[in-house]
Amino acid sequence: MRENVQLKLNGKPVSLEVDPGRPLLWVLRYDLGLTGTKYGCGEGHCGACTVLVEGSAVRSCLLRVGAVAGKEVTTIEGLARGSELHPVQKAFAEHDALQCGYCTPGMILNAVSLLRNIPRPTRSQIIETMEGNLCRCGAHKRIIEAIESAAQAMGGGQR
Ligand code: FES
Ligand code: FES
Repeated sequence: MRENVQLKLNGKPVSLEVDPGRPLLWVLRYDLGLTGTKYGCGEGHCGACTVLVEGSAVRSCLLRVGAVAGKEVTTIEGLARGSELHPVQKAFAEHDALQCGYCTPGMILNAVSLLRNIPRPTRSQIIETMEGNLCRCGAHKRIIEAIESAAQAMGGGQR
């Protein structure tokens, strides 16, 4: 049964008439047209569908939209500030940390969440945090380097 679910999405209030049990991933991609969030496995194993909820990385394929009522959700479409890319986005571009790009939105958002929690992560902490995000193109080495570079560019601070 449909209910009214309100949330803040990419900085703007959104009001939806939706089954609260519908996966957030479907709401984002199919109801709202935010296709930057990718469908990979649909079972919580690949990280392609990662978004931020209250600043922390979550897998939107496993999350019911009702669970984010009243919360702040950020997708890759909402990460830049106007034309200014987020430092993690810039670092991915500068380090060529992608090939096909399918895993990239989830990788970037997981990295943003990591740097929010651990502004100066060690390489081991980066690997440990990112290993659940799969990249079939094998860009992991460049992804790790990009995250190290972003941490430096952010001065160990948060954004
Ligand atoms: S699509 Fe959500 S973890 Fe794979
Ligand atoms: S860049 Fe292709 S899946 Fe990671």
